[in-house]
Amino acid sequence: MITDTIGNRRSEGFPVSDPLQALEKDHNYVKKLFERYLGTQDTLVKQEAGPEILLSLELHSMLEEAVFYPAVQQIDATLVDQCKDEHEQVDQLLHQMKHMDINDPQCGNLFQQLRDAVLQHIEVEEQQLFPAIRQASLDMEALGLKMQAYEANIVATKARGAQGGASASRPGS
Ligand SMILES: [Fe+2]
Repeated sequence: MITDTIGNRRSEGFPVSDPLQALEKDHNYVKKLFERYLGTQDTLVKQEAGPEILLSLELHSMLEEAVFYPAVQQIDATLVDQCKDEHEQVDQLLHQMKHMDINDPQCGNLFQQLRDAVLQHIEVEEQQLFPAIRQASLDMEALGLKMQAYEANIVATKARGAQGGASASRPGS
């Protein structure tokens, strides 16, 4: 399993007192997955890393959009709005890629586009947004608890969907 060798933060439990650390670990994880995916010609490695990239980004985006951004919006509204716009670009790419065949040559191009957009967004968050949040007097533990609860909920919902998902058809697909 790719998550065993690279290390997925979700298996460690949520760092409630430092939620920014959770987001940074997610960033590092997805960067390694992109290296893995784009650095190989091995279809089996791509088949493992590709879907894991899409799933990790989806969960991470949901967590930030639903809980994290609303909580930090007042610290720097312009910056948070910029981050939300960047998420929208990433979300559009994710949507486009969700049902693609990993062997489709176009898929490689889209993964590169996705990596570029994600790296740029990570830099804005880590260099600008997170330092601003660390300087503000925000109750980080309260935020961490909310993020932990939300994440546990979406992971459980996803797991239920995966169990019953094989026969369930998605609306619009
Ligand atoms: Fe983000």
